[in-house]
Amino acid sequence: MKRTTRLWKDQPVSMLLSSAIDRLGTETAFSVLARAKALERAGQPVIHLEIGEPDFDTPPHVVQAAVEGLAAGMTHYCPSAGIDGLRESVAAYFGRTRGLAVEPEHCLIGTGAKPFIFFTVLAVCEAGDEVVYPSPGFPIYESAIRFAGATPVPVELRDEDAFVLDPEALRAALSPRTKLVILNSPQNPTGGALDPAAVDAVAEVLAGTDAWIFSDEVYSQLQYDSPFASVASTPRLTDRTLVLDGLSKTYAMTGWRCGFAAVPPPLVEPLVRFFVNSTSCVPPFVQHAGIAALEGPQESVAAMRDEFIRRRSIVVEGLNAIPGVACTVPAGAFYAFPNVSALPIDADELATRLLEDASVATLSGTAFGAFGDGHLRVSYAASEADLIEALGRMRALVESL
Ligand SMILES: Cc1ncc(COP(=O)(O)O)c(C=O)c1O
Repeated sequence: MKRTTRLWKDQPVSMLLSSAIDRLGTETAFSVLARAKALERAGQPVIHLEIGEPDFDTPPHVVQAAVEGLAAGMTHYCPSAGIDGLRESVAAYFGRTRGLAVEPEHCLIGTGAKPFIFFTVLAVCEAGDEVVYPSPGFPIYESAIRFAGATPVPVELRDEDAFVLDPEALRAALSPRTKLVILNSPQNPTGGALDPAAVDAVAEVLAGTDAWIFSDEVYSQLQYDSPFASVASTPRLTDRTLVLDGLSKTYAMTGWRCGFAAVPPPLVEPLVRFFVNSTSCVPPFVQHAGIAALEGPQESVAAMRDEFIRRRSIVVEGLNAIPGVACTVPAGAFYAFPNVSALPIDADELATRLLEDASVATLSGTAFGAFGDGHLRVSYAASEADLIEALGRMRALVESL
């Protein structure tokens, strides 16, 4: 009789995994989404305000370009750095949107924006290095920093500053060990955004360091009350700033997995090596569609923006009308980050009760680091009807506490 060894049965999981795996964090949005979908399958009418993606369709001309790419046989491996045509379009996009004179050879294409975060942190940081980053913030930053063995140094973003990074708080977080500074504007999860004067103030502080700068600008086209600006446009910082953007948020292409970055020359080869070691390349028909997105008509971007501005008012007004809830007006992205610390239950329990009892999926601010406590993240990338219904359910639940 054939014998099978059931290794995992008799041993604690910790003995089967590397110790590094304990340092790898996660993104709660995906687990809440899974729970919300399970409740939906069980018949609960869940309204999804938890996941960070536009609820619009990818523009038809972009879909058409992908179909044409498939038909033309763009279905094989291609260069890990990206296809030339898209790298040229990305260089032109960075010129158009930030005034950056970046060469196509310094523009890389990745499977979404996310891998650039992980791989850049791994490429430049190790034990003994400190990484400064905004908190509350996109959870992958802290996860990547810890995985690299580096020390996370969060800078708190506060309600009273409209979640705009305070240059003095940034200055206080810097030390001779700071290897990398991560910036994110417009910001996930707060919707806070740096206006051009705030960018100058942050750039002034960063000019006093020689740390790498990683500027996560995936919401660059969704800044509402002031023009978008990038620290990379400050000449003293350009050489050591990686600028991250992508197709996901601007063109409603989250599922296509295509992000891109303008990368300082010394980081280009290491990042490409990470791509070679992991994903090999972004599917060429997706990149072909990316060219259509960046070079084609931009009306859909403007229409989506206008719709987000309208919904932002509905959500902020609706949240502020709930007793005990206070919501700052977010200046960008598609998230509201209401303060719920005056309520009798904490933010984690509130998010759980909203999902389980009221069928409204949101995220607790703690999913974005300790400084997110006392808040909820509410995505307004949902229809007006859903938002109004969700706000009504939230109010009813809060009033029942
Ligand atoms: C701040 C921030 N950076 C990066 C990403 C990742 O984007 P992508 O889907 O292109 O990987 C997200 C997605 O939610 C985000 O919010």
